Amino acid sequence: MKNLLVKKDIASILKSAESSGLKRSLNATHLVMLGVGAIVGTGIFIITGQAAAMYAGPALSISFLISALACVLAGLCYAEFAAMMPVSGSVYSYCYTALGELPAWFVGWALVMEYLFACSSVAVGWSEYVTNLLDGWGMSIPSHLSLSTLDHTADRGWYFTGSLIDFPAVFIVAVITAFLIGGTKQSTWINNIIVVVKVTVILLFVGFGLSYVNVDNLTPFIPENTGKFGSFGWSGILRGAAVVFYAYLGFDALSTAAQEVKNPQKDMPRGILISLLICALLYASVTLVLTGIVPYTELNTEAPIAFAIDSAGKGLAWLSPFIKTGAIAGITSVILVMSLGQSRIYYAISRDGLLPKIFSKVNRRGVPVNSTLLGGIVTGIIAGILPLHVLVELVSIGTMLAFTIVCISVVVLRKTQPLIPRPFRTPWVPFVPLLGATICIIQMLSLPATTWTRLAIWTVTGLIIYFTYGIKHSHLRKR
Ligand code: ALA
Repeated sequence: MKNLLVKKDIASILKSAESSGLKRSLNATHLVMLGVGAIVGTGIFIITGQAAAMYAGPALSISFLISALACVLAGLCYAEFAAMMPVSGSVYSYCYTALGELPAWFVGWALVMEYLFACSSVAVGWSEYVTNLLDGWGMSIPSHLSLSTLDHTADRGWYFTGSLIDFPAVFIVAVITAFLIGGTKQSTWINNIIVVVKVTVILLFVGFGLSYVNVDNLTPFIPENTGKFGSFGWSGILRGAAVVFYAYLGFDALSTAAQEVKNPQKDMPRGILISLLICALLYASVTLVLTGIVPYTELNTEAPIAFAIDSAGKGLAWLSPFIKTGAIAGITSVILVMSLGQSRIYYAISRDGLLPKIFSKVNRRGVPVNSTLLGGIVTGIIAGILPLHVLVELVSIGTMLAFTIVCISVVVLRKTQPLIPRPFRTPWVPFVPLLGATICIIQMLSLPATTWTRLAIWTVTGLIIYFTYGIKHSHLRKR
C-alpha cells in the first residue's frame, strides 16, 4: 500500500518538464483566448434556453453567477497549482505530488473522462447545429447519418436508434485532430479567430437585442416555485446553476497548456480568472436579453438564441445567419481546446510510465502526435454512437470529481509541503478550497444514480489498467 501512494517531488516534475520537447509559445492573451475558446460553446448556444424554460426562468442569469462562483473557487485552486507546477498533466500532476501515485492515476483517469466526454458531447452539439443549418438551406443529412447509434431512456434502457452513426460529429472530430497535429501555434491562431467571431456575435445579440426586451417577460424575475424542488423559485435557480455548470467547463483545460506558456507563474492565474470573468458576464447578459425578448416558457428549443432573434421580428432578422455561424464556429473552438487538453493528459500520464511510451512521443513541431491521435479516434467513436444527454452527465461528474480533488490537494500540499515557492496563493485557505470541494460534492450528489453507476464502471476499468499495466511500468516505482 505504501508504494501505491509514492509521491513525486515538485523539483523532479519541473525538471522533466524542462526536457519535454513541448514549446513555450503562449502568453496571457493567448491563454484568455484559449480559455474563452474552450468555455463558450454548446452551453450558452443550446443549454441556456432549456435551463431557463425548465428550471429558473429569467433568474437563470443568477444561476449563471452562482455557477461562476463555484468555478472561481476551483479556478483559484487550479491557479495555485498551475503557477507552482506549470506542467501539462494538470490535476493529475498536482495530485501525484500531494496525494501519491494511485490517487493521481485515479484523478488522471477522471480527467480523461472529462475531456473525452466533453469533446464528444460538444461534437454532438456541433452536429445538431450544422444539421439544423443545412436543413434550413434545403440540404438535409439523412437521419441514419446524423443521429447517435445508441440512445438511453429510463423506461427503455439502451436501444439502437436505427442510425448508423452521427457522421457530422465524427467529421468535426477528425478535422480538429488534423489541425492539432499541425501544431499548437497553428491551433491557437485558429482558435483566436474563432473566439473573436463568437464573442462579436454574442455582443451583437446583447447590444441589438436590448432594445427588443419586453420588461413584462422579465416579471416576475424569479418565477414562483411549482411545488417541486428544482422547478422555479430559489431551488430552480440552484438546479439551473448545476445544469449550466457545463457551460463553464473548459477553463480547467487551460492548466493542461501550462507547459507551453512562456511565463506561467504570472500568466496562468490571470488566464484562468479573466476567462471565467469574461464568460460569466457574457452568459449573464445573454440570458437577461434572451429571456427579455421571449417569454422563458417558450425557450425549450434546440437553438434558443436564433429562436429569440426570429421572434423579435424583422428588425433583428439580419442577425440570424451571424448567430448560427457564430454558434457553429464557437462550438468548434471548444472541441479544439478540449482536444488539446485531452492529448496533453495522455502525454503526461505516459511520460510517467503509467500508459505506453508511444503516447509521450513528441514530433519535430512539438506535438505529441500519438496521444493526439488516440484522443481523436476514441472521441470520434464515442461522439458517433452516444447521445448528447448521456455524454453531458458523464462530463459533469468527471469534472466535479477532478475539481474536488484539486481543491483538497491544495489544502493537503499546504500542510505537507508548506515551504515550496508558490508564485500564486489561493486566498483564505482552507476556507476557499473546502467550500469549492463542498459545492462540487453537492452537485455530484444531485446527478442521477445511472451516472454514478457509469462513473463506477469507468473507475473500475481505470483500476484494471493501473494494476495490470501502470503498476509494472511506473517510472517512479521503478526508481
Ligand atoms: N463549456 C463548454 C460548452 O459550453 C463545454 O460547450
